[in-house]
Amino acid sequence: MHSPRPPRHLLSLQGLGKARIEALLRHAEWMRPHATGGSAMRERLRGRTVINLFFESSTRTRSSFQLAAQRLGADVLNFDAAVSSARKGETFLDTFHNLQAMGADLFVIRVSESGALHDLQSHVMPNVSLVNAGDGRAAHPTQGLLDMLTIRQRKGTDFSALKVLLVGDIKHSRVARSDLHALQALGTGEIRVCAPDNLLPDGTELTGCNIVPRLDDALEDVDVVMMLRLQRERMEEGLVSSLDDYHREFGLNTSRLAKARQDAIVMHPGPMNRGVEITDAVADGAQSVILQQVSNGVAVRMAVLDALVNGQI
Ligand code: CP
Repeated sequence: MHSPRPPRHLLSLQGLGKARIEALLRHAEWMRPHATGGSAMRERLRGRTVINLFFESSTRTRSSFQLAAQRLGADVLNFDAAVSSARKGETFLDTFHNLQAMGADLFVIRVSESGALHDLQSHVMPNVSLVNAGDGRAAHPTQGLLDMLTIRQRKGTDFSALKVLLVGDIKHSRVARSDLHALQALGTGEIRVCAPDNLLPDGTELTGCNIVPRLDDALEDVDVVMMLRLQRERMEEGLVSSLDDYHREFGLNTSRLAKARQDAIVMHPGPMNRGVEITDAVADGAQSVILQQVSNGVAVRMAVLDALVNGQI
């Protein structure tokens, strides 16, 4: 039997399956020693062009895709929407077609419209790949992968015994969606979710998750605590009455964290609203792996670019 054809694009982790996710994580682990520099990987994308096409702001994702592409030897173009002809009214599609006409092997794209990259696929030339760097509230697959890599490094490769808690603005979070897809694919023992009612998604997205309304209860005995940013830019007015109230009910502080397992790790995809979803003491404390997540971002993005262009996963 033939193994399934490697995907040409990475738009979501939904449906990717355990074997492919684990293969990407192993590939990222193999690349990790080269993620901080050196020339050992520079032949892998030599002569290829990667275009970072970001229509929403980013620190971690855009910078780490740039470093990842450079460390693989690619030419990298960082499109700056703020000084582009998008400001004169040029459409996203026209912008994409024009950049594609300049010669590109791979586009890394962030947009505010959920699902926009799925619609773009029919406009992509053969041999050009797309990577979703975050589309609205829908998906952020490389964040999901780097989060899984961080959990594996701290807790081992068997997720079946793990209790993982996601806290906060699940409804507007593409990170939460990609993490949930990955955690489910990897067979996580228990996925708990804690959020105000109006920041939980509608429908069936949390099927299989254990929803625990009070953070003090939700933290009991968990191995991993993933704090999520309040996505105020994607919210209708009035969803959160006050940031102080939110912090009181859903903010992670040191005394609350003591309810989790003693060796629990604290994660946050960034950027953090310090003093809202997480205190400084926790964000910068001994159980925080937040900067390890960021470091893993470069290795994961090297692995994804390499896998899509060289077709090894
Ligand atoms: N985690 C994340 O996507 O961060 P940026 O918005 O800074 O890229």
